[in-house]
Amino acid sequence: MKRDFLEIPEFETDELYQVLALARRMKSGEYRARPLAGKTLGMIFEKSSTRTRVSFEVGALQLGGHAIFLSSRDIQLGRGEPIRDTARVLSRYIDGIMIRTFAHADVIELARYASIPVINGLTDLLHPCQVLADVMTIQEQFGEDLSGRKVAWIGDGNNMANSWLNAAYRFGLELRLACPAGYEPDPAIFERARAGANVRLTHDPMEAAAGAEVVNTDVWASMGQEAEAEARRVAFTGYHVDRALMARAAPDAVFLHCLPAHRGEEVADEVIEGPQSRVFDEAENRLHVQKAIMARLMGE
Ligand code: CP
Ligand code: NVA
Repeated sequence: MKRDFLEIPEFETDELYQVLALARRMKSGEYRARPLAGKTLGMIFEKSSTRTRVSFEVGALQLGGHAIFLSSRDIQLGRGEPIRDTARVLSRYIDGIMIRTFAHADVIELARYASIPVINGLTDLLHPCQVLADVMTIQEQFGEDLSGRKVAWIGDGNNMANSWLNAAYRFGLELRLACPAGYEPDPAIFERARAGANVRLTHDPMEAAAGAEVVNTDVWASMGQEAEAEARRVAFTGYHVDRALMARAAPDAVFLHCLPAHRGEEVADEVIEGPQSRVFDEAENRLHVQKAIMARLMGE
């Protein structure tokens, strides 16, 4: 039975900890197996990418496999071939699919019709590989046990915020989200997390940051929201991670950002370039976490 990774709760908590432990072994160099030998990952991109594309491609290679970059501009999907046909055709050639697209429903449909594992490389709703890499970065900083770790989310209730809610739900994080009115996270994802974890939503960034061990933000306008950029610039005034906001967090707090970042908008240059920033460890951890996911889904 093939398995997918479309959202963090797809895996139980124990399995998520196993994936993170495997990612750490991969990062340390201790793990040298090549579970993807002779296997191919297809990477469908309907949006731009630097980290996701390169880390999946390099990761597949390091595990002994191969990756093919499939831009929707070049494959028939972009000319209207149905997702379900694309899924069934690719399943005849390759061993796994990573997809980055707009509607999350498209990824669900792809996974339903594919007989091979599907990995979500970002949708408008979720960005699970990124937040699992972020969680690994937190473990490196504060230790393996994630329960009760205090995480602040400052800004848009977007795919990243929704995935943090899913991480809170599975790992028992204490998550404080500060989002402007009208830019809150997905209500169903929020309610599921709130039922199982200590999760709170506020409109005050300083309140969310108070005592946080991790301060996290993202761009004000995500991919596909370019036309809203000006309205968002107005709505997100004050949702800015600067030195004053970091001073409200715990003294040993770290700053995370999935990147790409807009300095002077959601984050001040002095924070992202400062001693508390872990953004490049976070970017590196994409590689290790995704290798662990590929080994689990495609290597067995
Ligand atoms: N953080 C992230 O997913 O980066 P890319 O858009 O460069 O893949
Ligand atoms: N929220 C951002 C994340 C980019 C990695 C976007 O969807 O564009």
